[in-house]
Amino acid sequence: TSIPTLFQPLTIRNVTLKNRIVVSPMCMYSAENNPSSPNIGALTDYHIAHLGHLALKGAALVFVEATAVQPNGRISPNDIGLWQHSTDSAQFKGLKRVVDFAHSQGAKVGVQLAHAGRKASMAAPWLRPADAATTSLRADADAYGWPGDIVAPSGGVDMIWGSGYHTPRSLSVAEIKELIAAFVASAITAVKAGVDVLEIHGAHGYLLTQFLSPVTNRRTDEYGGSYENRTRFAREIITAVRSAIPADMPLFLRVSSTEWLEDSPVARETGSWDVPSTLRFVKELQELGVDLVDVSSGGNNEQQKIKRVKSYQVDIAAQVRKELRAAGHKTLVGAVGYITDADQAKDIVQGADQEDEHGDVKEEAKAAEKLLSGPEPQADVVFVARQFLRDPAWVLHVANELGVNVTVPKQFGRAY
Ligand code: FNR
Repeated sequence: TSIPTLFQPLTIRNVTLKNRIVVSPMCMYSAENNPSSPNIGALTDYHIAHLGHLALKGAALVFVEATAVQPNGRISPNDIGLWQHSTDSAQFKGLKRVVDFAHSQGAKVGVQLAHAGRKASMAAPWLRPADAATTSLRADADAYGWPGDIVAPSGGVDMIWGSGYHTPRSLSVAEIKELIAAFVASAITAVKAGVDVLEIHGAHGYLLTQFLSPVTNRRTDEYGGSYENRTRFAREIITAVRSAIPADMPLFLRVSSTEWLEDSPVARETGSWDVPSTLRFVKELQELGVDLVDVSSGGNNEQQKIKRVKSYQVDIAAQVRKELRAAGHKTLVGAVGYITDADQAKDIVQGADQEDEHGDVKEEAKAAEKLLSGPEPQADVVFVARQFLRDPAWVLHVANELGVNVTVPKQFGRAY
C-alpha cells in the first residue's frame, strides 16, 4: 500500500518537510518580562523543553510562538521577541539554541513574526481573573506593560479591542515604515539563527489584521479606506521581508480568512474582512513571493459569531485552495483548527479515499467523477496546535494508526 500523502515529503523552495504536519505557533507566556534584564523576550529552558520534545516526536516543522518584531508588539510582557539583532544577544542565542536542537532531531523550525497592535500589553491568560469580561486584563506599567505605547492603524477609545484592553493611538506613516523595517530586521536575525521557514502573522486581530479590516482601519491616508490601501501594509511587509531573506527560503502568511462579522451591527456600518476579501487577497500572494497561506479566522472584533463546528476553518482553507488552483496559482494552503484525528488529517491533505464512497447512485456518480479528476485535497499541510499539548507524540500515534513507519529517535527504539 502506498504511503498516505500526510506522510509524504513536501519540498517548498529549498526546505523539505518530512511530512505534512506542522506544529502551529502557540504563545507560552514564559519569557523574561523585566525590561532591565538582558534576557527579556528570549526563549528559555522552558521553550527548549516544550518545543524540543515536539521536535523529537515527528512533526516536520515546529513553529515557535508569535515573535514580536518590536517590544510594544508583544501580546504580553512574557512574550518572546526578536528585536535584539546582535549574535551575542539573548534573543538571538535563545532562538539559535532551539533551532540547533530541533535540527539535531531532523525537524525544521519556523518563526512567526508578529506585532499585536492594539491587543498588546495584556496579562498572561492564567493571571487574568475568572470574570475577565468585567475586570482588567491589562498588563500595566507595574507589571512591565507599556500602556502609553499601544499602537494601531486607528486610535482612540472607539478602537479598543475589548473591555479591559488598552486604548491605542494611531501609527504615523513614519512609524509604519519603521515597523516594516522591524519585520525585515527580525527576519534577517531569524535567518542568521538558522530558522528554516518564516511566517508573517496576519491573523487573529493583531496588527496586520487591524490594517486589513475596515472595522479597525479608519485611516484616510494611503494605508486606509479602499481594499488596495488596507492591504498595503501587509503587501509592503511581505515584499520587504521576501527580498531580505534568501531566495530559496519559504515564506508563509497566516490570515484571518473572515472576521465572522457578516450580520453584526459594526460591519453594517463599516463592512468587514470576509471570505471574499480573502479569496481576492490570496491571489496576490504568489506574485509577492508567499509560498503558503495558513488559513485561520476571527479575533478582530467582539461581535464575531464564529461558526464553531469541527470543520469550520478547514472548509474555508478548501475554498481558498480551490480558488487558487482555479486561477492557476501554486500557492500552498495550510488548514488549522480542531484537527485532532489521524483519518481527519489524512483526508484533509489527500481527499477522501475512493473506497470510502458508497451508497446511492448520486454518490456513485460523484465517486466516478472523483476517480477521473483525482481526489481533491482541502489543504496541502495541516497546522495542529492544542492536540500537540494533549499529546506531544501525536505524529507518532497518527503514523501508527495509518500504518506508516516513521523514524523515531534511536533512544526511543524499544518503545516503538
Ligand atoms: C494559539 N494560537 C496562536 N496562533 C498564532 O498564530 N500565534 C500564536 O502565537 C498563537 N498562540 C496560541 C497559544 C495557545 C496556547 C493556543 C491554544 C493557540 C492559535 C493556534 O495556533 C491555532 O490556530 C488554534 O489553536 C486552532 O488550532 P487547534 O488548537 O484547534 O489545533
